[in-house]
Amino acid sequence: MNAADTPGPDAGTRVDDPLTVAGLYEHLLVPNFPASELITAAELVESVAAGTSTVRVIGAPEDPLAIAVTESFARSPAVLLGYFATRADQRGRGIGSALLTGLLAGIAAEEPEVSVVLAEVEHPAHHPVHAVHGDPAARLRFYGRLGGHILDLPYVQPPVDASQEPVYGMLLLALAPPARYVRGDRLLPEAGLAGALEEILAGADPERLPVAAALAAARHPRGTRLIRVADLDSAPVALKP
Ligand SMILES: CC(C)(COP(=O)(O)OP(=O)(O)OC[C@H]1O[C@@H](n2cnc3c(N)ncnc32)[C@H](O)[C@@H]1OP(=O)(O)O)[C@@H](O)C(=O)NCCC(=O)NCCS
Repeated sequence: MNAADTPGPDAGTRVDDPLTVAGLYEHLLVPNFPASELITAAELVESVAAGTSTVRVIGAPEDPLAIAVTESFARSPAVLLGYFATRADQRGRGIGSALLTGLLAGIAAEEPEVSVVLAEVEHPAHHPVHAVHGDPAARLRFYGRLGGHILDLPYVQPPVDASQEPVYGMLLLALAPPARYVRGDRLLPEAGLAGALEEILAGADPERLPVAAALAAARHPRGTRLIRVADLDSAPVALKP
């Protein structure tokens, strides 16, 4: 693609009307994520209504091109990028980059209380390429190019509900945290990673998931080390026992 055709940062349009949110769920989340990792449409609608999730879309809501769903925490200023996808026939045109850079810039400018945006990403060595859900190596490259770093902790994504399995072999990324939350190669404790992880891992079985190790790394008094995406091999990984 010609650089002149590449879209610039675009935070998308914020959507909170329940019917529109439910339509976007069908159009962009159902096709792009495994059912085992998806909350229900009703849960998303409810969370948006409660103000704990935001939905942003590029393109007309009835014919959307890309979506970003963020989730906030009750006891941390961090935010989780819960779902992020570009429609399969629109990938590779810069839309995802435009949405993520726009989203991060918009949060930095309009929500200064947010400390860091986190993202859960499959470790490329432990998850295969999926024709529809994507290529873990390409996805990690994507986030790395936009300033993402791997947090130095073993991460397992807890199940979305009791009928599902946890997703082992995951990486938790910090996406371009503001400079005031970083010293050297560490995300400072003020970023609230520990509080966010306590919420994410609240219902997790400590016998099966590395809850203690993840929380210890998040609670380190000097902060949690940020690993460059290029240094993936030095990131800890927790696999299914
Ligand atoms: C990741 C994703 C949002 C990127 O959107 P996009 O509009 O294609 O992004 P851009 O055109 O701005 O950037 C292209 C980059 O996306 C990444 N990418 C391309 N195809 C991809 C795929 N099938 N899966 C994952 N990442 C992909 C690559 O890094 C690519 O650049 P490169 O190949 O030159 O390194 C999109 O591929 C997608 O929706 N994947 C499926 C859902 C997903 O993985 N979401 C992230 C969940 S954590």
